[in-house]
Amino acid sequence: MRLLFPITYKGGLGNVKSMKVLVTGGAGFIGSNLVKLLLQKNFEVKVLDNLSTGYKNNLERLDVEFIQGDVRDIELVENITKDVKAIFHLAASVGNVKSLNNPHEDSEINIIGTINVLEAARKNNVERLIYSSSAAIFGELISMSIAEDHPQNPDSPYGVSKLAGEKQVLCYGKLYDMTVICLRYFNVYGLNQRYDAYGNVIPIFAHRLLNNQPLIVYGDGEQTRDFVNVKDVAIANYLAVTKACRSGVYNVGTGMNISINQLTRYVQEASGIFTATEYASPRKGEVLHCRADISRIKDDLGFKPDINIQLGLKEYFNWFFNQNV
Ligand SMILES: NC(=O)c1ccc[n+]([C@@H]2O[C@H](COP(=O)([O-])OP(=O)(O)OC[C@H]3O[C@@H](n4cnc5c(N)ncnc54)[C@H](O)[C@@H]3O)[C@@H](O)[C@H]2O)c1
Repeated sequence: MRLLFPITYKGGLGNVKSMKVLVTGGAGFIGSNLVKLLLQKNFEVKVLDNLSTGYKNNLERLDVEFIQGDVRDIELVENITKDVKAIFHLAASVGNVKSLNNPHEDSEINIIGTINVLEAARKNNVERLIYSSSAAIFGELISMSIAEDHPQNPDSPYGVSKLAGEKQVLCYGKLYDMTVICLRYFNVYGLNQRYDAYGNVIPIFAHRLLNNQPLIVYGDGEQTRDFVNVKDVAIANYLAVTKACRSGVYNVGTGMNISINQLTRYVQEASGIFTATEYASPRKGEVLHCRADISRIKDDLGFKPDINIQLGLKEYFNWFFNQNV
C-alpha cells in the first residue's frame, strides 16, 4: 500500500450495488440496524461477530454472510477482509461499568482488536474504514454543547480504549491510502437494544415498566442527555461510506438534549404504563448536561437526525414488549 501524506480529500465510494463491506459487531444492537440499512441500500454485507453480546437472531431473515469469530483473531480478520471495499468497525467491549470490571478484556478487544482490523484493512487495500467511537472519550464535560475538539480526558478504561482506537484509526488514515472516519455516538437508543446489567437508561426504564416497578431517577432528574435513535446512527454510517469526505472525527447525536424527568414522562406515554418515579441520591461523577454539537457532520456529510424521540420511543416499546412478553 502507498504511503500518503497529508490526508487527502476522497470521493464517495460510488456505486454501492456491487460493493462488499464488512461489519464487525454486526449482530449487536447498532450493528444489526446498520446491516439492515446497508442491505436496503443494496450493499453486499459480511458480518464478523463473536456473539458475546450480539444475537444471531438480530440478523434473522437478512441476507448476510455471517462469520462467527473474534476481532482478536488476526488471521481470521485478514482472511475475511480480502474482498471488501469498506469496513464498519463496531465490535467492542461496550460500556464504562463493564470496563471497570474487565479492564484487560476491554483493552484487548477495543485496542488490539482495532489494530487487527486496521492491519487487515491496510494489507487488503480497503478503501474506507468507519470506526464506531463514543462520547465516553470526552470524560468530564466542561462546555455545552460538545464539539469534536472538546478536551478528551476519559474517566473509564472504556473511554480510554475507545479513544486509543480512534487515535490508531486516524493514524492509519494519515499513513496509508485509506479514508478513515470516526463517528462518536452520544446516547443511542432504539430497536434491538436489550436490557442487561450494564444497560442504558431507556432499556432499564422499559424493563421496569414492563414489570410494573417504579422508575428510579438518580439526583433531581434535571440532568440532560442527547438521545439519538439507532436508525439515525445507521444513516450517519451510510453517509460516511458514500459521501465524498476526508478522514476525521464526527459527533453523532441530535444536537438536542432532554432531561431525565422529561424522559420518564415520554417513556410512560410511549408504553402506556404509568408507574411511580422514585428519586435516589445522585451518582458520583455523573455529568449534569450533555448535548452534541453536530454542525460538523451536518456540514460535511449532510447528516440530519430525523427521528423524533417520542415516535422513536413508541416504536422501541412495541418492539421491547413483544420481545419480553
Ligand atoms: N450503544 C451506545 O449508546 C453506544 C454509544 C457510543 C458508542 N457505541 C459504540 O458502538 C459500537 C456498537 O455498540 P452496541 O451498543 O451496538 O453494543 P453491542 O454490545 O450490542 O455490540 C457489540 C457487538 O460486538 C460483538 N463483539 C464484542 N466483542 C467482540 C469480539 N472480540 N470479536 C467480535 N465481535 C465482538 C458483540 O457480540 C456485539 O454483537 C461499539 O463500538 C460501541 O463502543 C455505542
